[in-house]
Amino acid sequence: MRGILLYEGKGKQLYASETEGELIQLFKDDATAFDGIKHDVIAGKGELNCAISSFIFEKLHTAGIASHYVARTGSIEMRVKQLSMIPVEVVVRNIAAGSICKRLGLEEGLVLDRPLTELFYKSDALHDPLINTEHAELFGWATREDIAFMREAALKVNTELTAMFAAIGIKLVDYKLEFGKHGGQILLGDEITPDGCRLWDAETNRKLDKDVFRRDLGGLSEVYHEVATRLGIEIAYQA
Ligand code: TMP
Ligand code: ASP
Repeated sequence: MRGILLYEGKGKQLYASETEGELIQLFKDDATAFDGIKHDVIAGKGELNCAISSFIFEKLHTAGIASHYVARTGSIEMRVKQLSMIPVEVVVRNIAAGSICKRLGLEEGLVLDRPLTELFYKSDALHDPLINTEHAELFGWATREDIAFMREAALKVNTELTAMFAAIGIKLVDYKLEFGKHGGQILLGDEITPDGCRLWDAETNRKLDKDVFRRDLGGLSEVYHEVATRLGIEIAYQA
């Protein structure tokens, strides 16, 4: 049972549930890029993201990585634990792409010697600026210990997801994670979907993520469908 709408983001809504400390997270069909400047509604995207994110949170749970995920409760909704979000995004990169290429003049596709973690302050108005641990601490967004915990968890996620995607012929190039506090515990929150990851076909480097939408490279639902199918996930909606 969904209660009142508590929060609306670009891709999701959060509703109250009848259980104290738990919420219903609903995935919208909206696709946005460049901090919301580019926007479209893509039928079936909510279901694809809900299915992929549920599948990944279940995998991570099996691997001992705690998240807010409780259960998938419908085609576009999941039950989650209520979090007080930490406004610091953790990006893990295995291959250079996107903002790091612009910032440091790297060539897209450069394979990094080891996974790199980066921190960004979550603010569309400021275009999610790159920050470090000192900024987070000084401005009260997260403690040094919180950052260390999130970085370590993000790297554990990397080990699991890199192997999971490699097994289906996909390179995990980079991804963004968000965390929040539930009681005294830090849990992985938000979603893990091709909206917040870069995924390249291992043979051809064809993009299988939101870059197809950002750069107008083709149909977003087709490539998300391909990711779901390769993961063995059943999708009801057919374009
Ligand atoms: P970036 O190259 O733009 O910094 O993004 C790195 C990865 O993190 C990419 O897969 C997209 C994802 N990401 C988001 O989904 N939302 C964000 O706000 C940021 C900064 C990154
Ligand atoms: N997540 C941000 C947005 O939807 C940035 C991006 O993905 O390009 O606007």
